[in-house]
Amino acid sequence: MTKAKWWVKLPALMRVLAFETSCDETSVAVVEDGFRVLSNVTQTHVEHAKFGGVVPELASRAHVRLIYPLTRVAVEKAGIKLNEIDGVAFTRGPGLIGSLLVGVVFGKTFAQALKLPFLGVNHLEGHLFSVFLNHPELKPPILYLLVSGGHTELIYMKDFLQYEYLGGTMDDAAGEAFDKGGKLLGLPYPSGPIIDKLAKEGDREFHRFPRAKTPDFEFSFSGLKTSLLYYLRKKDKEFVKNHIQDIAASYQEAIVDMLLEKTLKAFEKLKPPTLAVVGGVSLNSRLREVFTEKFGKMTKIYFPEPRYCTDNAAMIGAVALVRFQRGEGSGLDISASPNLPLV
Ligand code: KG4
Ligand code: ZN
Repeated sequence: MTKAKWWVKLPALMRVLAFETSCDETSVAVVEDGFRVLSNVTQTHVEHAKFGGVVPELASRAHVRLIYPLTRVAVEKAGIKLNEIDGVAFTRGPGLIGSLLVGVVFGKTFAQALKLPFLGVNHLEGHLFSVFLNHPELKPPILYLLVSGGHTELIYMKDFLQYEYLGGTMDDAAGEAFDKGGKLLGLPYPSGPIIDKLAKEGDREFHRFPRAKTPDFEFSFSGLKTSLLYYLRKKDKEFVKNHIQDIAASYQEAIVDMLLEKTLKAFEKLKPPTLAVVGGVSLNSRLREVFTEKFGKMTKIYFPEPRYCTDNAAMIGAVALVRFQRGEGSGLDISASPNLPLV
């Protein structure tokens, strides 16, 4: 990371304006020390639904359209004036290049105009910090399961900003498994929340979908998706329509089971005092139920507040608050980095 050239001295109480534009949500937030969210305005792009997945060019255009009006709303909601902002943060990766560029360029320009320090933040680190927004008292070490549309990772936060990567998915992410499975079932994108809802009325043992056997802390979900495809091919439309809730419940159970198995394995190895499940899929009600039941007696388990599970700028601001206070910052040469790793 480029060291900052400070134009201003950091104040004792810092307030950050943050942008998140890595995928199909445009989000702007104002966050201040103590992980206090003064505003967090997020708009999910609806135009992707009819395509069954995110269309990168449409996402970039939506970010361009939304970023300025949402910034105005975020600042107004925070009840502050522009001269009360002390720093600017934006997601620099991983994500879609065109989408990331909107936040990076807008954030840098905004910071330059106001002569403020700025920082490019890793989106994955943002998800890890999302849990501090509703639990500011939480301290590492924390074992994380990060489950989103693009990621499925087990990460150990040994201390603030110190990470050990344990393992991740070899193919699809957990959110992708939900979304692609939903597509096969004829459900709109994103299907995760719809499968979750359907599954509540279904029989989890209706059909046993195979659980992938993977080494160490690796995950694999593409076989599960294929097995759903073959299963559906053998059934007629009427059967699928009549049993959609049972199929959704059985499919969801396989995903949750695989996530649980590897998280248990990591927990056994590290025996952390705290476990956190973050990212869009951490909204899943069955996952929350199973994880709370399994881990609740062994450790403290935390989930972000629903609005901080999916992509949001508040979590990006939270990372920046800590990094700014440690003297970090980016230079004008910072750009979007679509494959940016966490460690
Ligand atoms: O974290 P996120 O907003 O975006 C990424 O960074 O990828 O996660 C979006 C993912 C989508 O795949 C969506 O289907 C999934 O989270 N998701 C859910 C639920 N709500 C959102 N998956 C399962 N159950 C849910 N309730
Ligand atoms: Zn995300």
